[in-house]
Amino acid sequence: MPQHEQPPTTAMPRRALVTGSAGFIGSHLAHTLVKSGTTVIGVDRRDPSDDPTAAANLGTLYGRPGYVHINADLLDCAIDPLLLDADVVFHLAGIPGVRPSWGPQFGDYVASNLLATHRVLEACTRIRVPRLVVASSSSVYGPRDGGASAESDLPQPASPYAVTKLAEEQLCLAYAERAEGPSVLSLRYFTVYGPRQRADMFIHRALRAALTGQPLSLYGDGLQRRDFTYVDDVVAATVAAATTPRAHGVINVGGGSNASLLEVIGIAAGLVGRDLQVRQEHMRNGDVLLTRADSRRARDLLGWQPRVDLHEGLRVHMQALTAQDRHYSRVI
Ligand code: NAD
Ligand code: UGA
Repeated sequence: MPQHEQPPTTAMPRRALVTGSAGFIGSHLAHTLVKSGTTVIGVDRRDPSDDPTAAANLGTLYGRPGYVHINADLLDCAIDPLLLDADVVFHLAGIPGVRPSWGPQFGDYVASNLLATHRVLEACTRIRVPRLVVASSSSVYGPRDGGASAESDLPQPASPYAVTKLAEEQLCLAYAERAEGPSVLSLRYFTVYGPRQRADMFIHRALRAALTGQPLSLYGDGLQRRDFTYVDDVVAATVAAATTPRAHGVINVGGGSNASLLEVIGIAAGLVGRDLQVRQEHMRNGDVLLTRADSRRARDLLGWQPRVDLHEGLRVHMQALTAQDRHYSRVI
């Protein structure tokens, strides 16, 4: 087993719905579930037949037995038929970026992160789906003074995106209080990275800048720190949340790789053997200086801990970008 893979979890769901399955984390989750024998219905409004990112994310999953892809928008599609016989719904669909959530796009955030989630919850309640695992965000904590964030801390979201994620998880937990509602586990993911990471995210951009020699825009002085969490670790926690007997609540998924942006730049430079060209820009609104997860609850309730350190994760992530470039140069 490669060093970065999690050991197999003991229990796997038999049948699952994954929303946002053409996205970064959702596609990794769907791949892992199908490989382990779970029958997966994936729903995403991105169409792999005309969206190259969705096609690359789904890869061999598209058309494979054990996986059915539904190209639909959760804001208006019929959700009930997708849920029949599902043991669990993994709700990862949503609009994810912190910085673009200011200004006119806010309505899209509210629509996908709240109104679509409301439709998923109503359907789960009607069909009596036993469990919903929802992707929440470390951004709900807001600015910190240096210590680790525990789930019991008062959330202080500092961006419109973070406000929608906090509202989303609270909406899910409210449905969990209804007798006929699903049990809900809301996972607060901390800045996830690894192959297929979204192109707007820092690590993707830093590794790309390292590979191409093009300049990297750095927002602020680069001393801001994140608990960077490798995507396989995030998937392992998400799968574990499907079967844990814990009834409902919030769980941090992060920890183990706290680093500054400058440290990431240094590791990326080491991987390619040359310095990156860095263009410093102003710090962006809504960005926090630090995220740090207290991961004790994940350990106690999910038996989970992060396994992939930042050096190893960045090495594998960079390898994936290089392999992708080789693939495209053959195709063109
Ligand atoms: P992503 O953009 O790659 O994936 C999200 C997917 O949801 C996309 O494919 C998108 O098309 C789909 N989607 C959005 N609205 C939809 C709708 N109305 N109907 C159907 N599909 C819809 O993002 P990601 O980085 O994989 O993030 C997945 C989830 O995890 C999001 O909810 C995000 O808020 C959360 N999250 C991500 C991170 C991270 O570091 N990537 C950290 C914390 C939380
Ligand atoms: C990430 C995800 O993008 C969100 O979807 C998620 O909700 C959040 O993690 C989370 O942990 O909950 P963020 O921490 O902002 O958000 O991650 P990046 O987008 O990778 O940015 C990290 C840092 O790099 C930020 O300070 C950002 O300003 C900076 N950055 C980003 C740059 O300096 N340059 C860039 O080109 C991009």
